[in-house]
Amino acid sequence: MATGSGIDSIMKEGRKFPPPADFARQAHISTEARYRELYDRSIKDPDGFWLAMARENHHWFKAPTRGLEWKSPDLRCFADGTTNLSFNCLDRQIELGRGDHTAILFEGEPGDVRKISYRELRDEVCRLANVLKKLGVKKGDRITLYMPMIPELAIAMLACARIGAPHSVIFGGFTSQAIADRLQDAGSHVVITADGGWRRGKIVPLKENVDAAADLTGMVKTVIVYERITQSRDRKGAGGTSGAPSAEAAQFKINMKSGRDHWWHDLMKDASTNCPAEPLDAEHMLYLLYTSGSTGKPKGILHTTGGYMVYTALSAKYVFDLKPDDVFWCTADIGWVTGHSYVVYGILQNGVTSVMYEGAPNQPDWDRFWAMIEKHKVTKFYTAPTAIRAFMRQGREFVDKHDLSSLKLLGTVGEPINPEAWIWYHTVVGKERCPIVDTWWQTETGGILLTPLPGVTSTKPGSATRPFFGIDPAIMSKEGKVAAPNEGGFLVIRKPWPAMLRGIWGDPERYQRQYWDEIPGVYFTGDSSRCDEDGYFWIMGRVDDVIKVAGHRLGTAEVESALVSHPKVAEAAVVGFPDELTGEAIAAFVALRSGNQPSEALETELKHHVAAVIGAIARPKALRFTDALPKTRSGKIMRRLLKELATKGRVDGDLTTLEDFSVIAKLRDEA
Ligand code: PRX
Repeated sequence: MATGSGIDSIMKEGRKFPPPADFARQAHISTEARYRELYDRSIKDPDGFWLAMARENHHWFKAPTRGLEWKSPDLRCFADGTTNLSFNCLDRQIELGRGDHTAILFEGEPGDVRKISYRELRDEVCRLANVLKKLGVKKGDRITLYMPMIPELAIAMLACARIGAPHSVIFGGFTSQAIADRLQDAGSHVVITADGGWRRGKIVPLKENVDAAADLTGMVKTVIVYERITQSRDRKGAGGTSGAPSAEAAQFKINMKSGRDHWWHDLMKDASTNCPAEPLDAEHMLYLLYTSGSTGKPKGILHTTGGYMVYTALSAKYVFDLKPDDVFWCTADIGWVTGHSYVVYGILQNGVTSVMYEGAPNQPDWDRFWAMIEKHKVTKFYTAPTAIRAFMRQGREFVDKHDLSSLKLLGTVGEPINPEAWIWYHTVVGKERCPIVDTWWQTETGGILLTPLPGVTSTKPGSATRPFFGIDPAIMSKEGKVAAPNEGGFLVIRKPWPAMLRGIWGDPERYQRQYWDEIPGVYFTGDSSRCDEDGYFWIMGRVDDVIKVAGHRLGTAEVESALVSHPKVAEAAVVGFPDELTGEAIAAFVALRSGNQPSEALETELKHHVAAVIGAIARPKALRFTDALPKTRSGKIMRRLLKELATKGRVDGDLTTLEDFSVIAKLRDEA
């Protein structure tokens, strides 16, 4: 239906699935009345609600007495309290008697398995924290982590949190330019990495990428290198073998730069396992996580300690209904926010087992995930719609081969899930007995904001349903008018919440503009959505220049600047278009510098170039050459028209503001 915001909703889905009775019976929150009671309290008396949660469920060196202090656009939460998130993830769990319980259950792509107890994890974290201190790292220094999905990544995060050195984790799929941009922006001089990691049976050359990034920026003073690949060859046994396929590993070499690069195992050898957690102000910076926005360079989303701690723990507990014996597996890479909040911080604070897997879902075959669920008796499984669609395509035989009876709950995150994929997940994986939590949130929100509560909420395939505690969402027009039921509009959040971002690192003006100026007085999510007659939210997609490829967030600007960095490219514009498997894919329109001719070989070269500069996830699926880009008279690229072209192969929209109509006419006629 048409709306004032120009956003149309085409999806209609009538099916409704009540929580399975057995699940509801044992759930932390099992009645609508209890959800209502808690939700109403969290909205009417947010300070009382959050202070109670903070005091009851967490360790504080000094308990807070102040709740949410909001002076737009600045939020402070629990500002007079001091705490330590590493302490809450580790020491507090040991104090509660969970010391011998498995904290991290790791499986490497080659099949190596490690189980690390809470006590062992604390010891490793303390040793690394002492190493960092010895290397001169001080409270407030930003530490860059660029690692495979191995326990040492979690150890590094928790060591940083222990001494108050904020971490900036860079996704291992990014390459040198992306690392260099983030290092530079964060002003980070210390990098923790690994020699390499395993992905689809091949070595990801992490250290080599760090070397190249360090050359680009010239600002890296210290690199700590964990041996993931070389240890099976050179140091059998220490820290567990990598299980590496020997032929690849045997050839593998990295360069260690003397004075700058240190082996992790050398530094850790003599480090003490005693490192008291530093009492930190609740508003002390916990981490930066770079994400793509609608314009310009990636932005460092800034999260702080206390509010994030309380919100991630509470949301993990209720959304996944965590119980002491749960084996929780979130398949997200820690390079994204999902991994920060629901592989590490929110999960470990609940004292359960968090599963980490290093590699690809189809290595060695498409049943890897199901084999792991069976082997490790995973009880709660959280993944992305794009993965579910990929599994669907391979056929249910891969799932049916395995005993998945340990599963109790399924979750999804990252992009809208199409009802067909939801039903497949529900029937083929969940055997119609596991509730599905479709959770909507963002890097900026820190934790899950819209979600079913699995023991209470009847689910509708494709809807992230209702707000979590303390969250006050609405659908609005650009003018700030609240939409009628089922009318499309912009999803906004009307009240701050504890895990909300505190800013964009080094760019307060952009923070204000991007989140608070679009519709004054409310947090602008950048998503379009509608809310149905039951108060359920249905996310329709992004309204800005963010593209979601396989749930990964990419900015058009980043991909465009990668294209333009190629010597033959004069100008480029990039848009997203629907893709059955990855949700969205990238289409690039490229104008060449004079003297260069379009060719298939150049098309392939440019696609490779983007992958080499940013990483394989940013590789355009389609690339078209054009004489010029369609622009407005003020020189702004009209991506909207290119999006129409890429999506529908034609342009129906308003063309009156175009500077040169022939550009788009030519593209259209050639489509
Ligand atoms: O468009 C929404 C989509 O992912 C965006 C946030 O991306 P990112 O910061 O990378 O965080 C992803 C993981 C938390 C949102 O603005 N999105 C996320 N979850 C959902 C979703 N869209 C629909 N349904 C979801 N459950």
